[in-house]
Amino acid sequence: MNFIPYGKQLLDQNDIDSVVETLKSDYLTTGLKVPEFEKAIANYCGAKYCVAVANGTGALHLASLVLLKKGDRVLTTPNSFLATSNSILYVGAEPIFVDIGKDGNIDLDLCEEELKKDPTIKAIYAVAFSGNMVNQEKLKYLREKYNILILEDNAHAIGAKFNGVKAGSCVNSDCSIFSFHPVKHLTTGEGGAITINSKDIYEKLLTLRGHGMVKTPDMKPWEYEMRELGFNYRITDIQCALGLSQLKKLDSFIDRRVEIAKKYDMAFKNSIVKPLYSYHGKSSYHLYVVQVDFSKLNISKEELFIKMREKSIGLQLHYIPINKQPYYKSLGYGEEKTPIMDRYYRECFSLPMFPKLTDNEQNYVIESLMEVLNG
Ligand SMILES: Cc1ncc(COP(=O)(O)O)c(C=O)c1O
Repeated sequence: MNFIPYGKQLLDQNDIDSVVETLKSDYLTTGLKVPEFEKAIANYCGAKYCVAVANGTGALHLASLVLLKKGDRVLTTPNSFLATSNSILYVGAEPIFVDIGKDGNIDLDLCEEELKKDPTIKAIYAVAFSGNMVNQEKLKYLREKYNILILEDNAHAIGAKFNGVKAGSCVNSDCSIFSFHPVKHLTTGEGGAITINSKDIYEKLLTLRGHGMVKTPDMKPWEYEMRELGFNYRITDIQCALGLSQLKKLDSFIDRRVEIAKKYDMAFKNSIVKPLYSYHGKSSYHLYVVQVDFSKLNISKEELFIKMREKSIGLQLHYIPINKQPYYKSLGYGEEKTPIMDRYYRECFSLPMFPKLTDNEQNYVIESLMEVLNG
């Protein structure tokens, strides 16, 4: 059996042709593919605007520059990739880690407790973990009642829905971000995007993506003005050509992920392997996370990872609690009361989940996992 990773891209000849066509064109960057991709992402999500950038981390950084200022306190989740809370630190703001709920997402009831205690809290950065959006009704309620800003980190969740609200539509948030890394639903190699409904924020993001530089029709032909400190977070036309081609297949990629999730769920019914949440077709299943109570078994999580690797299966861990990372500890984090996250971290791991996973490979993963866990 060839090595089966936890995630990987699915590219076809159309994707390759699309990239080659752009390579043969006049513009490799700052051409027309970038706005075409942005428009297509905005349309797909039902948002007014989209700014495509070099990666998801850049998307978070730019969004944080627009939403936050130095010293702002922001509620966020320990169960994410480092970039979510790092982006709060990038702008001199202060992440506050809140425990997760049973589905791996930030616990919005606990967020409300924090908001009651501290009315100066500026924002919630919520991650749609594994492709499962946070409760939109609760998000709307918190946003309106406490007058806070909301950023949805939808790096895992393009194509997901919650009661008719689509990930990235920003119906109940100020900004949403995506990542187009190869393990994600659609890839541009590296890449990311921010979706927004506010024209004002959209224009600020465009300026910040390009060095803070502005060029207006009334300026002389050679003139440009730097009005604030920006960055080069441009994405190339080559990447956007790939993204546009991938986007055409996104729904079928998600359908396949959902099918894989359904089969895992059935296979683990009444077993020691507990899916993070029971199957639901509105998650876009970037990850398929399970929990196992290792204290009841003769095998540790470390041994499981090693034995599965020997069988050419790459398990992955999403995530080590961010607040327990050495850098965060050096800032004084790490002692928050997060019992659900602590237990989750002891028990969780992710199984291979990507559209190219064949039925045979999936059967092999299921059989191998049960065999190794049962000793
Ligand atoms: C939840 C989450 N947010 C942000 C990012 C950052 O995206 P990128 O790797 O494109 O910078 C990732 C990437 O893994 C992620 O999983």
